[in-house]
Amino acid sequence: APRAVIFDLDGVLADTAVLHRAAWQQLAAEIDAPFDEAIAERMKGVDRMGSLEILLERAPRRYSDEEKAGLAARKNARYVELIDRLDPRHLLPGARAAVESVRDAGLKTALASASRNAPQLLERLGIAGLFDYVVDAGRIARSKPDPEIFLAAAAGLGLAPTDCLGVEDAAAGIASIHAAGMAAIGIGQAEALAEADVLLSNIAAFDIGRITTTSGPSAR
Ligand code: BG6
Ligand code: MG
Repeated sequence: APRAVIFDLDGVLADTAVLHRAAWQQLAAEIDAPFDEAIAERMKGVDRMGSLEILLERAPRRYSDEEKAGLAARKNARYVELIDRLDPRHLLPGARAAVESVRDAGLKTALASASRNAPQLLERLGIAGLFDYVVDAGRIARSKPDPEIFLAAAAGLGLAPTDCLGVEDAAAGIASIHAAGMAAIGIGQAEALAEADVLLSNIAAFDIGRITTTSGPSAR
């Protein structure tokens, strides 16, 4: 049976995937880069510079590293402005209950968000105290789908990766969880999350009692 659940934040617990997307879309318009659903989906879970590289693949010109840093900073300034207004009402329905249910079941909880804004976001949403360990995204070298961030979460909890379950809304995140040797719970639409071991349409459907009996490393 799993001993911990490692949650992603944006798009799993917080309704912020749309805010990242809005900030990127505005930047795309400013530099005449195309932006569509497929690009937005690929950016999910990917760190800031990795997301920018995806946006720039079809930009009309090339950018220097210095210019890229400026573009990323511009996107982040807008995103920070958007999340500064958030409060606990911006948790996705059932998110707090999902994390609390894991704790109540005697399992540990960790957060594995690629966002450098995650600590402030947890405070704004009023859930910072619900995690035994929060990975510092600034210390992760390789973006999801690399397993580094989920392995760091397990290590931070003092557990083996196989003792942990990961919860993600992005294809890159599911791949990261699997590469770390954990079972993956996908939250969202099936098309993007075909690889998940358990698929739930939203975090409100998360039931730790059911998941521990139907999944886990032994089920893979
Ligand atoms: C992830 C989001 O959680 O964090 C991505 O899904 C985002 O969209 C990434 O790019 C990095 O976030 P930030 O806040 O450090 O730019
Ligand atoms: Mg996410």
